[in-house]
Amino acid sequence: MRNVAFITGASGQDGSILCEKFLEKDYKVVGLIRRKSNADLGNLNLVKNNQNIEIIEGDVTDITCLQKICKMWRPNVFINTAAQSHVGLSFTTPVDSVNNTGVGVLNCLEAIKDTNLINCKFLQLSTSEMYGGTDGEPLNELSPMIPRSPYAAAKLYGYHITKIYRDSYGMNASNVICFNHEEPGRRGHNFVTRKITLGLAKIIKDPANAPKIKLGNINAKRDWGLASDYCDAMIKVVESSSSDDYVVATGETHSVKEFLSIAFSHVGIEDYSNFIEIDQSLWRPNEVHVLIGDYSKINKTLGWAPKTSFTDLVKGMVDWDINNQPESLDTIVGHSSNGLRVISKAY
Ligand code: GDD
Repeated sequence: MRNVAFITGASGQDGSILCEKFLEKDYKVVGLIRRKSNADLGNLNLVKNNQNIEIIEGDVTDITCLQKICKMWRPNVFINTAAQSHVGLSFTTPVDSVNNTGVGVLNCLEAIKDTNLINCKFLQLSTSEMYGGTDGEPLNELSPMIPRSPYAAAKLYGYHITKIYRDSYGMNASNVICFNHEEPGRRGHNFVTRKITLGLAKIIKDPANAPKIKLGNINAKRDWGLASDYCDAMIKVVESSSSDDYVVATGETHSVKEFLSIAFSHVGIEDYSNFIEIDQSLWRPNEVHVLIGDYSKINKTLGWAPKTSFTDLVKGMVDWDINNQPESLDTIVGHSSNGLRVISKAY
């Protein structure tokens, strides 16, 4: 019988990479995307005409849609990448964020259980945000988790409910605890790495008129890896014989400032300070200062290791945006004092 992979969040960065990788592995792929008013499938454009993919409009907050898909295609792999994945936005849209990012996971598990998909391997994309930070010690599967945002709290719920369904019902349900990961050309425009590389591409294209890149806390440090490498880790987890929880990281941490330095010096600009501006509205009400992961468990158990260095990741993102010059959203999203989300055209 043919393998079927069901991927939620299929037009997102990770979801689209997973769809491509499963198609290459000759799976039938069912991709769930949010209902949208235009026909552009964004990151899924490369595979939208492949006869082995079904792209379905729906939402993880709607359990009936998940049940219908489980009944109709009986997937043996189910990866939940769907979420409201922007940490800052979760402070201004907390209820929507928690419904998508937390309750959505429960709906996935319930849909699998209700439709009696006993052989289906479920994988939840959990996150390093659940830890709430570290004083420098690399974080592993046993490190304490103290979330600092509505997003991280919802992800922590999703992480635990996945473990609970595994322990209570014997479901083959695993978590990958992914540290920050980015893909050239696919990262959402409001994450810091892509804001920088898109802003830099504009500076290169039109140095006299390009706006400054508005940023928040550039001292924050993250463990940044390449999304394609992390999707390989996810596939290793769902193709393994047992279910478990794994940190996926590079074991290095770098500041936003370091990202800026490498990005700008890659195009011959040694001092980036004249090209950026600190905007207080982009600071989060509660910041995670430092993240660094210890990926030794997945390395020992499943033989996974990251392949891409931080420098190559930064250069790859810069090159992609300079060479492809995608339309930027041209907006910045900040937080007003009354808690409303503010879209500004100032960027
Ligand atoms: N987005 C954004 N925009 N972040 C900024 C900015 C800015 O203008 N300026 C500074 N930062 C800082 C943030 O405060 C944060 O400390 C860091 O840059 C990274 O921000 P993001 O790129 O938004 O990513 P994130 O770390 O909050 O979350 C990402 O990684 C998580 C895994 O650790 C997202 O992909 C999450 O979905 C994911 O779970």
